[in-house]
Amino acid sequence: MDSNSRKTPCKSEKAYCNILNEIEEGYFETDLQGNFTFFNHSMCRILGYPSEKLLGANYREFASKRTAKEMFQTYNRIFRTGEPVRIVDYEIKSRNDRRVVVELSSSMIRDIHDTPIGFRGIVRDITEKIQAEEEKEQLKLQLQQALRLEAVGTLAGGIAHDFNNILTSIQGYTSILKLRTGPSHPNYEKLTRIDDLIQNGADLTRQLLGFALGGKYEIKILNINTVMLHSLKMIPGIKENINIVEDYQNDLWMVEADRGQVEQSLLNLFTNAVHAMPDGGTLSVKTCNIHLDPDHSKNMDLPPGKYLEISIADTGIGMNHTTMQKIFEPFFTTKKMGRGTGLGLASTYGIIRNHHGKIMVSSRVGVGSTFTIYLPASSINTTTQMTTENDYAYGSENLLLIDNEQTILDIGKEILQELGYAVFTADSGEKALEIYKKHKDQIALVILDMIMPGMSGIETYHELKKINSELPIILDSGYNIETQAIINFMGEKDGFVQKPFNIKILSRKIRTLLDRLNRKTADP
Ligand SMILES: Nc1ncnc2c1ncn2[C@@H]1O[C@H](COP(=O)(O)OP(=O)(O)OP(=O)(O)O)[C@@H](O)[C@H]1O
Ligand SMILES: [Mg+2]
Repeated sequence: MDSNSRKTPCKSEKAYCNILNEIEEGYFETDLQGNFTFFNHSMCRILGYPSEKLLGANYREFASKRTAKEMFQTYNRIFRTGEPVRIVDYEIKSRNDRRVVVELSSSMIRDIHDTPIGFRGIVRDITEKIQAEEEKEQLKLQLQQALRLEAVGTLAGGIAHDFNNILTSIQGYTSILKLRTGPSHPNYEKLTRIDDLIQNGADLTRQLLGFALGGKYEIKILNINTVMLHSLKMIPGIKENINIVEDYQNDLWMVEADRGQVEQSLLNLFTNAVHAMPDGGTLSVKTCNIHLDPDHSKNMDLPPGKYLEISIADTGIGMNHTTMQKIFEPFFTTKKMGRGTGLGLASTYGIIRNHHGKIMVSSRVGVGSTFTIYLPASSINTTTQMTTENDYAYGSENLLLIDNEQTILDIGKEILQELGYAVFTADSGEKALEIYKKHKDQIALVILDMIMPGMSGIETYHELKKINSELPIILDSGYNIETQAIINFMGEKDGFVQKPFNIKILSRKIRTLLDRLNRKTADP
């Protein structure tokens, strides 16, 4: 075909420039050395520089060392083969060091004699797409980890439950013996040692349960700054070569949380930080109020709203990626036998999750680690006092003790009798209802096991309340799968204790509830 017969109208150079400047993609031409000779508006926008800065500049100025090397290889290939190169992902340095990822397709420019004189290329900004993909991947990993931890949690919770029942029995018998012997008896000290050992065992199961289901037993309105100050004083094995830097927000919002559990979580983090700095370093703690907007909170898998941000940073040994992925798993430890059980972070994770919060970690080997906790802020603005009493509380009322385990009934009955109470026992919800109906006027308070075969603790609770809504009920459980549910329906007249029972706590709880009831009935 004769070229003169072409009917396509030829656009002016200006018209082509207009088209180029209107397209979304960046277009550029360079000489053989890679110096920009021509480009469109979008190219300037993507790189973030005005055209006078780009013209004559070399592509290397806008690329990291790695990208520059890769681009050099790409241009080399185009030059050698004459073939265009399609779509390669490059990370480039835009103005203000913003990370920009582009797709590039590039080809050779030749003069009329077919001699190569430069390169041309089209660049598409895919930063947002890449970021979205990365975020999605991150969320997927988080979800996988949460599911894995959930499964391990169920297992750990099951073991802790059985173990707790055994401890409860041992502790019960020890308490009876202690109550009977008194401090002057030659065996009293040994019994105290047994008590301490039981406490160690109970601490272990508490950590496990914290991880597994993390019951919130004693919800209070807390000022985290105060809890932080207190926990910092209790770090075991802290030496002078560790410098503590504190930065507390003054008007920090309150949280609704279990003080003991929050303290335990912070202490686990502080202890790990200290262990990570055997030759000393800086432990920085910080609290602040933050507002998570819907965008941010979605990425963090938390509902939007007001949160407290607590960060704990060390300048210690840091962690590599593989370690970081496992740290929240129970029994994962890199510490020598006998130094760590690997339950610290597992329980911290469970506790924070059960307070509807989130814990995150970032770390670099040789630089240090930062743990960041988010806890939802409370809408209530008052603080409540912790009660600190140290003694057994006695009484003489009639109590009804309900538990499906005979040993616990036997021990419980003996202990309560030692404390002065008269005790009815029932080994099932059904029997308990029978007894309560019969002795309704005598029974002043009920202690009820949450986990029972047949009629469950919750059902029994509701049935008893149907008969007498004023009846104080202390719920107990070692395995707190339903703790949240309990807290939701528990009334002011009721209480909760965790197995294995701390007899002092149980005795005081019984007394508090009974005294409250007596005051109420005495009031006109
Ligand atoms: N701040 C930190 N710096 C470096 N590594 C850490 C840090 N915190 C945790 N780790 C790593 O995570 C692992 C698990 O921590 P975790 O607290 O669960 O268990 P542990 O400290 O080993 O034992 P435990 O707390 O039960 O005594 C640690 O063994 C350590 O490898
Ligand atoms: Mg630890």
